[in-house]
Order: sequence, then structure tokens, then C-alpha cells
Amino acid sequence: MAATPLISVAQRLLANVDADHADYSETIVDVAVRNYRDTDRFEREVENIFHRSPLLVALSCDLREHGDFASLVIAGRPILVVRGKDGIARAFLNICRHRGAPVTEECFGHSRRFTCPYHSWVYDTEGALVGNTDRAAFDGIDVDALVGLPTAEKSGAIFAILTPGLAIDIDAWLGDMASALDILDLNNLYRHRDGLPAESGNWKVTADGYVDGYHLGYLHGKSIGTKSITNRNTYDLYGPHVRLGFANKPLPAMRDLPEDEWQLLNAMSLVHYIFPNISISGQPNGGLMMSRILPGSTPDRCQVEQFQYFREPMTTPEQIADADYKRELYLAVTRDEDFATVMKITDAMAAIPDDAMRYGRNESGNQNLHRWAAALADGTTPA
Ligand code: FES
Ligand SMILES: [Fe+2]
Repeated sequence: MAATPLISVAQRLLANVDADHADYSETIVDVAVRNYRDTDRFEREVENIFHRSPLLVALSCDLREHGDFASLVIAGRPILVVRGKDGIARAFLNICRHRGAPVTEECFGHSRRFTCPYHSWVYDTEGALVGNTDRAAFDGIDVDALVGLPTAEKSGAIFAILTPGLAIDIDAWLGDMASALDILDLNNLYRHRDGLPAESGNWKVTADGYVDGYHLGYLHGKSIGTKSITNRNTYDLYGPHVRLGFANKPLPAMRDLPEDEWQLLNAMSLVHYIFPNISISGQPNGGLMMSRILPGSTPDRCQVEQFQYFREPMTTPEQIADADYKRELYLAVTRDEDFATVMKITDAMAAIPDDAMRYGRNESGNQNLHRWAAALADGTTPA
């Protein structure tokens, strides 16, 4: 079913506040601790999930014009995403076809040419090799372009599969999550500076924090949780993806107003989790925070990059100062509260290798995440 409008999320949140509980799933789900720690499983997750699923590699608004680009490394694969002169966004392995250097290391930028720093071979915005500093020496070489990756643009986001040659079916992958993202109006955003990095623990424990509405008023009880009526969440599951609704304290006061007067920005908060590694927090008429989980080389650590987007470019000194403040503040909250906890959990798992993590009926976002992660890691889909 296509994503319902946000007013219906608010109505459901109000019903949950009245019922004194969140949306409930059918059962409690246990996930074995070894599923977070096992190196073979982790390698299958990297190979079968991160290297073979469509991953969000940029928002469309990051690459507005011909020559706008983003570069990033996900699960060991260096990626370059560029908007071409035909307006199409393409992803490539950011690996020079001469001897493997990255052709750029800027996170975001604008260029019609990419000159490899090592021996100055040059590529264009379609990935073609258009310059060689010693043509005679390479007469007859068997490559003429960067290695292209399957890429698709949908609902204001650019997705790529990090393995060349695989088919990408973005409609099938996103399913009804596409209509949920359409509501967010991702095309109409402006990124404020580059992402900010932070270290975290196991990637799935980190992801747990983004699909868990339950902890907001507890772990964040003195920071971002103060405005929330905690543990009254809605969970809309779209395949592996999820839209979470959070009830905020002003919500019950909306009950007596006509629906077109409900102030949804105050009444509730929203998080969209795009499996396996992207969280987008915010609403269509406000700023957004996007977080990207980057698995490390071992199961016990990952990195998170956090990006701030606004509905208009930040131009005045006051706007920039305010945006800088928010950018740092939100990183501090997630780093000091979420990721610090995730690292302690990850490290503590060594002491309870045969135990389990327990996901209650109020944690259906987490249950869904682990169901999909387990199935995809094994090369299947959930029953
Ligand atoms: S590695 Fe890129 S030009 Fe040599
Ligand atoms: Fe959190």
C-alpha cells in the first residue's frame, strides 16, 4: 500500500497516546548475540547486503547541475557519483584505470573533468577516459572509462549497487517506501556543508538506534527526547525499510482542532530508514538530518556520517551560525548518547556470546531490520 499522508500518521499517534502503547507487532523476537559478532556472518552482510543491494549514495539535491559530484567509500568500495551533461546521475568505482588511485577525494564538488592525482589521467562526467599524459606509452590499452556501477534516481535520491554488472530494480527495492520518500520532498533541499563523522559500534546495533522509537524519552530524556511522548510510535514497514512516527507533547492539543489546522511539525517527528544504512529525520516542510552508516572492516565498529539539509540555502551570517550550531549539536547528541551506548553494547556482547538481544512488540522496526538483514545476508528474502 502506498504511504499514507502524514495527517493519518498523526491520527494513529494520537490513538496510540490514548491507548498508552506504540504500534505492536505479533510477537517478541530474539536475535542471537553471535549474529552480531560472527565474522563469517559479517562478511556475508558486507558482500550480500552492502555490495549487492541498491544503496543511497547521494540525494538528488546534492547533484543539481551537470558536473556536480559526490565521492564516498562504502564497505571498502570507493564510489564517485556525477551528474552528466544529459542530466543523468551515474555512479562509478572511484578507481583510476591506470593504477588504481582515487580520481577525487572531495566529498562534494563541481567539475567537468576528474584528473587523477597520481599520473594525471583525465575522465569526463560520463566516466570516459579523455586524457592521458603519455598516449604513446599506452597505445592499445584495453580500458577507456571508469568502471560504471548500476545507478538509479528515484524520489529525490540516487541509488547505486556497488558491484558492476548487476541489474538494479529500484522500484522493486523501494516498493512503497518510494511514496513515503516522495512526501518528504527531498528534491527541494540544500545541504549545509559536508557530513560530520563519528565512530560507533556494530553496524546493526547502530542501525537499531535509528529504527527504535522506544528509547527516545529515556536515553535522550535530557536532550532531544524532552519534547516527545515516548514509546507511542507508529511503524510503517515497507519491505526492509521503515517510516517511524513519534508523538510529540503538543499532539493531544490538536485533537479538538480541524485537521487542516494541525501543526504536524510540532505535533510529531518522523524518521525514514532506508535499509540497510540511511536514516532521514525530519518532515517535508522543515530541515532534515541524514545519517549514513558505514560498516568497518570488523563487526565491532562502524562509522556514521551525519548531514544537515535545509529548505533554503544558508546565506546570511546568522543563518550559517545557526546551521553550524545545529549540525554540531545533533552530532554531539548522537555521538555522546547513541553511539557511546552502541559501543558499550557491542563491547559487552563479548561477555554474553550465547545470549540474545530481545526485541519487544513495541520494536517492530528493529524486528523488521533484523529479519531482512538475516535473510539478505543468506541470499534470500524473508518469508
Ligand atoms: S593511477 Fe591514475 S593516472 Fe596513474
Ligand atoms: Fe537515539
